[in-house]
Amino acid sequence: MKRLTYPLRAGAALAAVLLTQLMAVVAAAQQSGQVPGQALGNASDADLWRAIRQGAGNLIQAEGSTWRALHNGPLSTYGIWIMAGMVFLLALFFLLRGRIKIEHGWAGRTIERFSFIERIGHWLTAGSFVILAVTGLNILYGKYFLLPVIGKEAFSVITAAGKFAHNWIAFAFMAGLVMIFLMWVLHNIPNRHDIKWILQAGGLFSKGVHPPAKKFNAGQKIVFWVTILGGLSLSLSGWTLLDPFTTSMFADTFALLNKIGFALPTDLTPMQEQQYAQLWHAAVSLVMIAIILAHIYIGSLGMEGAFDAMGSGQVDLNWAKEHHSLWVDEVQEKEQHSGRTAPAE
Ligand code: HEM
Repeated sequence: MKRLTYPLRAGAALAAVLLTQLMAVVAAAQQSGQVPGQALGNASDADLWRAIRQGAGNLIQAEGSTWRALHNGPLSTYGIWIMAGMVFLLALFFLLRGRIKIEHGWAGRTIERFSFIERIGHWLTAGSFVILAVTGLNILYGKYFLLPVIGKEAFSVITAAGKFAHNWIAFAFMAGLVMIFLMWVLHNIPNRHDIKWILQAGGLFSKGVHPPAKKFNAGQKIVFWVTILGGLSLSLSGWTLLDPFTTSMFADTFALLNKIGFALPTDLTPMQEQQYAQLWHAAVSLVMIAIILAHIYIGSLGMEGAFDAMGSGQVDLNWAKEHHSLWVDEVQEKEQHSGRTAPAE
């Protein structure tokens, strides 16, 4: 049933736009006392039609209906399912596992986990991401959830301000991404310990299991690469939306993918570029929001002692030994080393 209605709706929209265009041309011609064929000076009817087709190529395009159907249909629906699914899983995990405790209790001694500049980088990325997520979700879902509650006037003020914030805070997010990439990339290169960590699911589901890890464990490496690669992709597609009709990013990417066996369209119109950019931008951000929800949970409510790492930068020694034993060894070795060499200097 739906299959029939889309082409019909697309056809009706196309006919309507074409008719409006024609009427506009006729009206303009009548105003200037010319008949349609003379509206372009000495141009023929064929020239006129060609001009309409070319000039209105971004208006008269059936892909607009496909984009709209995807945007208001599967994209919005799956987005809700992905985010709600994650909230449900986290709630279930909390109910079954509770807050993960420091098993050996608080040591009362701390070790520096993140320097001031590392925390600035984290909170710049995190703070801007949260604002981008909230304002972005409002663009996608606000009309369904917020508008009926607060009314048109308040909604339009909030949404206009939110869109403005979204456009500009994107730059803070990009700056944060660059900072954390430069500071942490070397610590996030996969190593053999990650395999053991993954096989034991990080000990998240079983008490007393603490697979060894360096500065970042495998789960954190996943969060890091999701943030960096997802963030880069959001930045590029967001840039296309911010500065429209200036790139052929998707046509170029499709051409590359076609070289490895895909069969994607490469003759995209500028408007189709925008449509792909919008759908991609929204889809990547929805998946990223769901993953980051899990990160926020485990970095705050879900694990005793974890927040301090990004709060004061100092974590309890027992927490550190349980979750990052190899990193503690490295830090203590360095300290001993500098302690031994210091008097000699
Ligand atoms: C808003 C609430 C957030 C809280 C409470 C939070 C908390 C934390 C904590 C405690 C750590 C250090 C974990 C450790 O010491 O091992 C951390 C690390 C990190 N955070 Fe966040 N974070 C938040 C938001 C975000 C957001 C929105 C992003 C990205 C968009 C992000 C990206 C990262 C990355 C890449 C790391 C390093 C890898 C990792 O530990 O997973 N954080 N966060």
